[in-house]
Amino acid sequence: MGKGFYISKTLAVVGILLAAASIATIIALAVVYSNEKAKNIESVTPTGDPATTGHPATTGDPATTGDTAPTKPSSTTSPPQKPWHKMRLPDSLKPLEYDVKLWPRLTPNTDGLYIFTGNSTVIFECVNTTSLILIHSKKLNFTTSAQLSGYAGSTPPAITDSFMQKETEFLVIQLDSNLEAGKTYSLFTEFVGELADDLAGFYRSEYMEDGVKKIVATTQMQATDARKSFPCFDEPAMKAHFNITLIHEPDRVALSNSPVQMTTQETLDGKLMNITVFQPTAKMSTYLLAFIVSDFNFTEDMSGNVLIRIWARQKAIAQRQGDYALNVTGPILKYFESYYNTTYPLPKSDQIALPDFNAGAMENWGLITYRETALLYDPHVSSTSNKERVVTIIAHELAHQWFGNLVTVRWWNDLWLNEGFASYVEYLGADYAEPSWNIKDLMVLNDVHRVFAVDALASSHPLSSNEDEINTPAEISELFDAISYSKGASVLRMLSEFLTEDVFVKGLRTYLNEFQYNSTVYQDLWDHLQRAVDSSGVNLPHKVQDIMNRWTLQMGFPVVTINTMTGQVTQKHFLVDPDSVVNRTSPFNYIWYVPISWTKLGNAQPQYWLDQTTVTNENMKTTGTEWLLANINCTGYFRVNYDIENWNRLLKHLESAHTVIPVINRAQLIDDAFNLARAGSIPTTLALDTTKYLSKDMEYMPWESAIDNLGYFSLMFDRTEVNGPMQAYLRKQVTPLFDYYENITSNWTVLPPGHTEQYNQINAVSVACKNGVKMCQELASSLYQEWMGNPSVNPIEPNLRTSIYCSAISTGGAAEWDFGWEMFKNATIATEADKLRSALSCATQPWILNRYLEYSLQADKIRKQDATSTIVYIAGNVAGQSLAWDFIRSQWKTIFNQYGGGSFSFSNLINGVTQRFSSEFELKQLEQFQKDNAEVGFGSGTRALEQALERTRANIKWLSENKASVLNWFKRESL
Ligand SMILES: *[C@@H]1O[C@H](CO)[C@@H](O)[C@H](O)[C@H]1NC(C)=O
Ligand SMILES: *[C@@H]1O[C@H](CO)[C@@H](O)[C@H](O)[C@H]1NC(C)=O
Ligand SMILES: *[C@@H]1O[C@H](CO)[C@@H](O)[C@H](O)[C@H]1NC(C)=O
Repeated sequence: MGKGFYISKTLAVVGILLAAASIATIIALAVVYSNEKAKNIESVTPTGDPATTGHPATTGDPATTGDTAPTKPSSTTSPPQKPWHKMRLPDSLKPLEYDVKLWPRLTPNTDGLYIFTGNSTVIFECVNTTSLILIHSKKLNFTTSAQLSGYAGSTPPAITDSFMQKETEFLVIQLDSNLEAGKTYSLFTEFVGELADDLAGFYRSEYMEDGVKKIVATTQMQATDARKSFPCFDEPAMKAHFNITLIHEPDRVALSNSPVQMTTQETLDGKLMNITVFQPTAKMSTYLLAFIVSDFNFTEDMSGNVLIRIWARQKAIAQRQGDYALNVTGPILKYFESYYNTTYPLPKSDQIALPDFNAGAMENWGLITYRETALLYDPHVSSTSNKERVVTIIAHELAHQWFGNLVTVRWWNDLWLNEGFASYVEYLGADYAEPSWNIKDLMVLNDVHRVFAVDALASSHPLSSNEDEINTPAEISELFDAISYSKGASVLRMLSEFLTEDVFVKGLRTYLNEFQYNSTVYQDLWDHLQRAVDSSGVNLPHKVQDIMNRWTLQMGFPVVTINTMTGQVTQKHFLVDPDSVVNRTSPFNYIWYVPISWTKLGNAQPQYWLDQTTVTNENMKTTGTEWLLANINCTGYFRVNYDIENWNRLLKHLESAHTVIPVINRAQLIDDAFNLARAGSIPTTLALDTTKYLSKDMEYMPWESAIDNLGYFSLMFDRTEVNGPMQAYLRKQVTPLFDYYENITSNWTVLPPGHTEQYNQINAVSVACKNGVKMCQELASSLYQEWMGNPSVNPIEPNLRTSIYCSAISTGGAAEWDFGWEMFKNATIATEADKLRSALSCATQPWILNRYLEYSLQADKIRKQDATSTIVYIAGNVAGQSLAWDFIRSQWKTIFNQYGGGSFSFSNLINGVTQRFSSEFELKQLEQFQKDNAEVGFGSGTRALEQALERTRANIKWLSENKASVLNWFKRESL
């Protein structure tokens, strides 16, 4: 799956504007991830599961079709013991081929229910003699009895009993005698299921076009919902061929993994219907199946022999929103064919944008599904980050067509390899499609830094889990987290670097070749990489497997400390809170094999492997003004600390000739310093010192890193006397950047040429306007006024809209706000509405903010799904902080009763309104709030409230330790 928890640039920018993104959100981050997990779990096992799914009648009772036998109660007295009480399939049966016919109804039946009907035949081989058939099935009602037949001359036993085991999602079929090993059989079932709007299995998506409600029937099988569309052996290693048939109205189009074989017409239920039969699929896993019926349109192209089509709503195609995706898909496919040295395994590649979709995208083999924002791009309204999102997600999903789909990990415990790999090579594919963007560098900000924050917590977990630890759908769904995606990507990038890309690719190719159409465990990849190492003469101090186990089987990462006075090099498990208690033991005692690349005075030195706690390396001693820099380009998944003298020499060098230090390392020095300061390893003022040279650096990455890290300082200090000097300092630092952009954009009339330059232009404007650079605020107001004068022509560049709207509304009054509100209500594009909704929270008059808070709970003004984030936006504004907190406290009962139980995220809400809390008084209020509402409860915000209390205490401590020195520092440096 594509990244479900992808943070878009727009959101990130909003975060920066509102000073929400910061290292201090470490605890908050943990909460966000637990929310992500909670959401995933909900989507896999929705609450309100209709308790009785149907039960197939037995063959012994041919007279009754429909529901007969009751669901057998699960044994409550003794522990699970029958095979159907286990979550995993036994190894006795192996599917070979399925024939699946499905008919989704795009209008509700007389009960108002959207349904699909279908039947399915599975041909399977008996591998071990057994008198029991277990096959996954979920929420399907069986309309006739299951029928077992012999295949290729075998004689079938009779069915004696069959029932649904709901907890384990099995259809259980008991036989009067054994199936014989080596023989094949076929099982036929006929069923009806609900085409619900639950985003899982075979589901429906609704949207409006020209005032008409339209329905799409579509699928999301990963991880365990193929069983919700037809009975199947629903584990990734149970690969088979699938023959899919879809029945649909003649004016709809049907899509599946394979191309259409033939379409016929037949009158069914008194209506003329199309019957679309697809070619048999390649041998594949159930979780990669897809079937879609819609009235979408497409745009197409050929890449060699492969047909590429981009599908979307007719309007979106007519507006050419699919063109960008079409243009980049061909080159990316070509790139991966040569990278993997394997031709694309299928005759076609369809990609489709769906109005309702849970994850970012899903790599179904040959029919990839996306959220609209992950596939469609409109140059007139979409921002640069929207475009980057499209190309990277396409590259991610196309990478899976081989790694994941052609070769599949045997069980979900190895998900990190699948997703980590795609999250790494997506940058390679995107870089090929957009070579001028330097997009590979951005992985350090987007993945490495992001996951560092989570993986530095005592509550983190290792990349790899044991197969027997991962059983239930909830356990599987929990694996789709930042550790699997971003840490997986980061350690594979490190591996590719120290092996060299040639060797990495060589091992990868033989791995794909050996296991195509089959499944693997992660050790298989290490084996193939080891063979590539052995045959290439690369010198490694340890086996690939021994090195990698230290990164995948223990959680966290090391901080390497280099003392350039003594040459001593040490490593230690990095915890952002050194007082936190790690409960997890490591098989390697938290010692890693660390590949250290380094330079002295900018001259590259031979890579050094640190494989124990402490060593002395004479070469790492420096003399005089020599400086040493380690972890070049942050290719290693670790932080670096130095003796103070070396830090100071690095800082001096940044001031005098920053370009000698690679741009990624400039970003890295800042991020390392702020995090080391947070952990108490270096003074906070030293971390602040790393931002001083920025008035000379126009590059995006160091700025972004500094802005992320300074976000916490804004939150802690924007209501204190530190705020004045802090803003003065930021004005001083950002003014040269602002002037630079004014200059290269001919006074803001053209886009900066480079990709990251466009991003840093956003930073320049948002930091300048937020901290009171007059030129910036005037620019924002005048552009906004121009728009107010002619609402049908928005003169503001899409990239800059979030910052410009925010500044104009914050310096303006009721007229500016009301205009923004009108534009919000009239916005036809979701991303534009979101930009306005966030900017409306930038107002400074309390009455306007209070009115906006009231609106947030009126569903005709702010959609329910946006209520929490609107309140959180307002709380992010220093002027709105206490208003939002008062609002929440006074309205808690109402909010809880009206929105409780739904998708309303109480944890985001509590997090958002308490993120600035840093005084004893606020701590008391929070404790009081907890007491006062103990009876009403906090729902999904219960844990967030505990964490808010903990974070408030941590903030109080941090503030008392740092406020005086930080104030002095800003006073001195803002002069
Ligand atoms: C399965 O369903 C299809 C489509 O409704 C129908 O044509 C076919 O006869 C069914 N097969 C059986 C064996 O009932
Ligand atoms: C099933 O058969 C395979 C190979 O035929 C054998 O290796 C395995 O041990 C058998 N499993 C059981 C549970 O008998
Ligand atoms: C399946 O059967 C249950 C129980 O009879 C019923 O409530 C549900 O609506 C049925 N589902 C469909 C899609 O017919």
